[in-house]
Amino acid sequence: MYKRDMRYVCLRIAGEGGEGVISAGELLTQVAGRLGMHVSTFKTFPAEIRGGTAVYQIRTGPDHVLSQGDYLDVLVAFNREGYDRNIGDLTSEGVLLHDFEPGDGAPVQRRGGVNYHIPMGKLSKEAGSTRAKNMVALGAICELFGFPLAGIEDGIRKKFGKKSEKIVESNLRALHLGAQYVREDIEIRHEIKFTPGDGNPRVVLSGNDAIAFGAVAAGCRFYGGYPITPATEIMEWLARELPRLGGRMVQAEDEIAAIAMCIGASFAGQKSMTASSGPGIALMSEALGLATMAEIGIVVVDVQRAGPSTGMPTKAEQGDLNLALYGTHSTAQRVVIAPVDIEDCFYQTVNAFNIASKYQIPVMILSEQSLGFSKASMPRPDFESLAVYEEVFADKETDGDTWPKVDEITVGEGYPMTPVFPRYLRHTNGISPRSIPGMPGLEFRATGLEHDEFARPRYDPPNRKAMLDKRLAKFEEIRREYGEEVEVIGDNEAEVAITGWGTTAGVIRHATVRALNEGAPIKAIFPKMLSPMPDNAMRRHLHGVKRVICCELNDSGQYANIIRHRYGVNVHAVLKDHGVPFAPGEIKPYIDMAIKGEVRI
Ligand code: COA
Repeated sequence: MYKRDMRYVCLRIAGEGGEGVISAGELLTQVAGRLGMHVSTFKTFPAEIRGGTAVYQIRTGPDHVLSQGDYLDVLVAFNREGYDRNIGDLTSEGVLLHDFEPGDGAPVQRRGGVNYHIPMGKLSKEAGSTRAKNMVALGAICELFGFPLAGIEDGIRKKFGKKSEKIVESNLRALHLGAQYVREDIEIRHEIKFTPGDGNPRVVLSGNDAIAFGAVAAGCRFYGGYPITPATEIMEWLARELPRLGGRMVQAEDEIAAIAMCIGASFAGQKSMTASSGPGIALMSEALGLATMAEIGIVVVDVQRAGPSTGMPTKAEQGDLNLALYGTHSTAQRVVIAPVDIEDCFYQTVNAFNIASKYQIPVMILSEQSLGFSKASMPRPDFESLAVYEEVFADKETDGDTWPKVDEITVGEGYPMTPVFPRYLRHTNGISPRSIPGMPGLEFRATGLEHDEFARPRYDPPNRKAMLDKRLAKFEEIRREYGEEVEVIGDNEAEVAITGWGTTAGVIRHATVRALNEGAPIKAIFPKMLSPMPDNAMRRHLHGVKRVICCELNDSGQYANIIRHRYGVNVHAVLKDHGVPFAPGEIKPYIDMAIKGEVRI
């Protein structure tokens, strides 16, 4: 029988867009990170600037927080609507902080639960602001659950200091009024406790921040982009940081120009990146083909959102897998990596740059709204031990000897031997020497046209075949290098396996650990890379498996179809496409049913 681990606590703030829900959640998250707490957050808000419900959720625990879990322990409702929409999720023993206005009625009394009325709006006005009810709430939360007010005070100064000293002062007053109200007017009756931090401060980053940070750590010094929710924060982060590092952020006129700028920057020897979401990535697909053909390594981030088209831009979905893998013309190999959590966003971005630079190929990072917008605490990256690949550009003096003699290269009849630099030399691993444009004696043309080893446009069948094989060899080399990177947890002999990708992997892991604790024969399989797929390792781990459950946030089972067709296994797809991530409790019943053989394949 599953027994809940009470050391994991989940707090949700809910109110109207414009009421400062997000600011309150972020300040609390920063403080938790500084205390060394393990924390993971989720936020969702409407696409409109004001109105609609905004929600910020923080889950903390004694160890790495795998998902948002199944239980809501504390609900902070800024108004009646925030209460109405979220009270159904609060556990019966949960704590409610609310600000019901006269005429709003009374919140339900739950068996074992505790309701605290905090007059947030009233105290905010007393503090001299109509906007600081969120700070009153934070003051109350600090006093009720033992978070230090000093941490929030610092945060207020940093956040609002840029606006005006008057705003800082009224917010500080509001914070203290909230805390004072709890001290003087509330009888504390709840038992819920947050697990204290271990005192080792952790950095708190959103998935978008972590990708931008990872890019900079990997040596990216050029970003070309066009704003789109939920990817814009990557651009904002890099707009701030790149100039300080001697790099450049350019806001292009559209996504086509953005990716073309990156291809140009990378052609000129600069590590470069662009980021967008589904509609923008669709526009980039032609240029992605150019990067593959001209063998120019770039990193492209897709922070997926619920679509198609403008769809639900602030809501979660894993709907762009097919676009990432197949959204192209002709045979255009690209690498696709899907980070599973925020720490992974950082390290996979470094990895993406390493692959792009070493293999001269476009690499797509398939992130998600629920990663991009969420925050989590993570240990400070150790930059000393970070493996960053630095491309060695061809140098005529030194490399001339290592290239094959010109007469050993397919020169081709009717193609006079004028150029000297075999930019697309067919090494067995498919990786060719690259020079920085303008280096005397190492000039070459980069083109989307099919070409020969000297980059000369050329269309004869033997050359076409040779160059297709060369690009494929490079792709297969990546598969060899990363082919074993599959993570498996659980019972190796199990006949039932569960799999998923991106953020869903964390929730699956959570549900699998629960099932394993109950003694269930199950294994979870997570490929690190989605293109090229680590086929050998996947086949090995799927050998003997009779039923596979595949969970993903889309309506068409994009990954389930790949697993089914690629490995010939029986797959039951568990799909959700409502704009919100899975909870472990939604997945666990499918594990139980699959073990009993009760799922339809
Ligand atoms: N005192 C003074 N100002 C405060 C405050 C306080 N106590 N608390 C919050 N604010 C300010 C914030 O600084 C922020 O101002 P800024 O925009 O200058 O940064 C503003 O009030 C909104 O507060 P915030 O906490 O960030 O958000 P919220 O919870 O009120 O929700 C959003 C507002 C985020 C839903 C809405 O503004 C928004 O941006 N919607 C999304 C738009 C979008 O991306 N659409 C998609 C287009 S495709």
